[in-house]
Order: sequence, then C-alpha cells, then structure tokens
Amino acid sequence: MEQLRSTLQENNQEHLLRFYNDLSVEQKEQYLCKLQEIDFHKMGQLFQDAQQSIESEGQLLDTFMEPVSSEQLGSYENCDPTLRESYYNRGLQEISKGTVAVLIMAGGQGTRLGVSYPKGMYSVDLLSNKSLFQLQAERIQKVQQIANEKFNGNGKITWYIMTSVPTYEATQKYLTENNYFNLEKENVVFFKQGLMPCFDFDGKILMDAKDKLAMAPDGNGGIYQALKISGILDDFQTRGIQNIHVHSVDNILTKVADPTFIGYCIEKGSDCAAKVVKKSSPHEAVGVICKVKDKIQVVEYSEISQAQAESTNPDGSLIYNAGNICNHFFTADFLRKVANKDMQVHVAKKKIPYINDQAEIIKPSTPNGIKVEKFVFDVFQFSSHFVVWEVPRDTEFSALKNADSAGKDCPSTARRDLYRLHKKYLEEVKAIVVGDEVEICPLLSYAGEGLEQYSGKQINSPMHLV
Ligand code: UTP
Repeated sequence: MEQLRSTLQENNQEHLLRFYNDLSVEQKEQYLCKLQEIDFHKMGQLFQDAQQSIESEGQLLDTFMEPVSSEQLGSYENCDPTLRESYYNRGLQEISKGTVAVLIMAGGQGTRLGVSYPKGMYSVDLLSNKSLFQLQAERIQKVQQIANEKFNGNGKITWYIMTSVPTYEATQKYLTENNYFNLEKENVVFFKQGLMPCFDFDGKILMDAKDKLAMAPDGNGGIYQALKISGILDDFQTRGIQNIHVHSVDNILTKVADPTFIGYCIEKGSDCAAKVVKKSSPHEAVGVICKVKDKIQVVEYSEISQAQAESTNPDGSLIYNAGNICNHFFTADFLRKVANKDMQVHVAKKKIPYINDQAEIIKPSTPNGIKVEKFVFDVFQFSSHFVVWEVPRDTEFSALKNADSAGKDCPSTARRDLYRLHKKYLEEVKAIVVGDEVEICPLLSYAGEGLEQYSGKQINSPMHLV
C-alpha cells in the first residue's frame, strides 16, 4: 500500500485513493489489485504524448506530403478485366485453401449513432431487417461457398471479432443466440482490445466510481497488441491463416473477404494494404493515404490546407484522392512484426462522466477531459510493400456513423445505398426493377453474381430476393 501510495504521488495520481477508506474490505482488495496492474509512469508518458498531439493539432503537413506512387496504386475500375479476374480467382483460391481470415473491428462505442448496444447489432431497417453482423456473416458464408465450389476445396474463413469491454458481452450473446448466422461456431473467434484511462486536462486520471477509474477502449489501433495478448497470432499459425482482411463494422457495403482485393494484394507481394475510394469532393472530411516524409501515412482532413486538398493532376483528378475507408489487408507475418511496436497516440477531447470530490456522478455538458486512442492505420509505415486498391464508392462504401438527424452516413443513407447497389446488380442482368426498394440476400448473391435467373423479369419494389 505504501509503495502504491508513493508511486501515485510521484505520478500526480494520489487522488485515486481519496475514497479508499469508504470501501469495504473486499472492494479495497480488488481496487488495489487493479491499481497495481497499471504502470503509472507509462500513463504519465502517455499523457505527455497526448499533450504533444494536442499541441501539434492544426499543423499542416502540406510541405511534407506526396501522393503514393503509381506503382503502389491499383484501381478496380482501371484494371484490365482479365487481370482483375485473375486477382479474383487468386483470392478465391486462397479462400478455398483456408489461408484467408476476416477480422472485424467492433470495439467502438458508436457514440455518434447513439445506441446503447454494439453497432454491429444495428439494423438500418432493411426489408430483411438484418443487422450489420448478419449481412457480414452471410457474405462470408457465400464467398466461402463460391471459392470451394470453384476450386474444389474445403477452406473455411475464420471470422475474428474484435470487441472491447463495452461491446464484448452483448456481441457474444447476440451472435451466440443467433447461432453465428450459420457459420461454424469454431470458426467464429471473439477477442477483446485493451482499455486506456481517461484523463482530465491536467493529466489526472478520472474516476467513475469510488473504486473505478474511467477507462475507454484504446482505439482501433489497439488491434495489434490485442492480437498478441489474446493469442490470435498463434491461432493464425494453428489454422494456417496467412491473409487477413480487416475492416470496420459499420460499412454496410463491405465486401467481406473480398477475393479481388485479397488476390491483388497477394499478387503484388504486399504485406499491408488499404482499400480506398476517391474523395467525393476536395473537402470531404476523410483521411487520405499518402506519403509524409517518405513514410506511408493517413493524413486527416484537418492536417491539409484548402489549396493542397484542391490541387489536381493534369487530367483534373485530385492529387490527394485516396480516401481511407478503414478496410485493410495484412499478412499474418506483418501482424506478428507490428505486435510489439510502440504506436502513436491520438487524442479526442470528450465529455467524460466522472465522480467529483463528493463522489457525485457528473455528466458534463462540455468536454472535460481526453480519451487517448491508437489508430489502425498507424502501422502502414512499417510495411515493406504497401499497396492501395481503389474501388468504386457506390459498390463498396457507405458508412453508418450518425443518427438520421445528421442526414449523412446514417441509417437512411446506408439503406438507400444498399438498395441502390442491389438494383444496379439486377439491372446489370437486364431485370426490370420497378421502384427502389430491392434487397438481395447475400446467400443468393455475394456481389451481383448468379442473378441471371432474373434476366428479363420484372421485379416490383419492395422486394427481398432470397
Ligand atoms: P469509429 O471511431 O469511426 O466508430 O471507428 P465508433 O467508435 O464505433 O463510433 P463513435 O466514434 O463513437 O461515434 C471505426 C471502426 O473502428 C472500430 C469501430 O467499431 C468501427 O468499426 N473501433 C473504434 C474499434 O474497434 N475500437 C475502438 O476503440 C474504436
């Protein structure tokens, strides 16, 4: 106890013991154990890094930036169709051999969407009423079937689900109760990312109960440490997994285990890659993938001047156009390599509930502290062969971030974009679609294939094709 007290004093955190005498014997014991697990010196360092990150906010990176080289950039639309098909087949072949896994990052708290349960369980009110998790699980099932039929294999795609303390229980319960949407139980693996303490602006760790520190998930960049700590890197080895498709939970159009993307990355010999979409306008608030001082980095919209964002190539296209959509490819070896790297921290000023000196719970109406996060893309710099695969936005990207009141990246835009894509798939096989609300079950078609039976047929909306 004395040692702990002096460590806390040295690190300006002695307030963490101010309610200690109010606790029961059992609570005291548990609380001390928790405090002893924390490296307070490291936390002090973390806060200093966070402060530096705040101080460098608003600094423009213009003069250090250059776009990724053309050799590193592939494009679905500009790719020769025969070559593209060879990528697709290569991806399918790897799936059929069982070297491919999918890792969904589902540890975020979805605060902007504003629901009390994990975002993957959210339904955007499709005709089928399917949740994001269900759509993704069914896409896995379908692409696995396509691959095994084509290459006469028996490969299984393991579905790794990264959760966090706030999302773990509900996610696991939901998927278990729904029988993993017919994926095999042994091929669905849950793990948890870590937590980081929340600080006030003076670097003091906030408490949200007399025996509890205010903690938050350590950002989607927590994935690398979590893969190691939870034994997933070893699991890759046991299962013979070499190629991992990592994506966010909240893009309703995600081509899960996309064979073309995976095949492209493998053919290029890449160890780390990102899918991107063209920015919708120079001022769309997305990060762009580019080089900064010769290292691959995602530059946030706030780090680039208006003029730089608007700068164009001779053909009129934007120079900084590779919009990052949180959709990546990694080899298992690369994930092993970065598991022990120290990662940069990013800071968000947030309204963090806490207890005051009277142990009253305060829910602030303005930001009162900081959450520290790591970002999944901060390891791109460690890649020895990084590539980018640009895909059309209308077929691959519609994010669910906000409630409908925001009018963008919300349930109604996600629903609209999925219906629009599915209508397009049907029109490509010359079906006549009357109205806009058509949904195709992923078990019928993964990405528009296998719909020839509807050629020349009239489909009246609303219609859910199964
Ligand atoms: P976002 O930061 O865009 O979404 O994460 P969020 O955290 O769910 O929502 P807000 O910001 O609170 O409104 C992008 C992806 O990274 C995952 C999210 O689940 C989402 O798939 N993520 C985010 C994690 O897995 N862990 C985290 O700590 C943060």
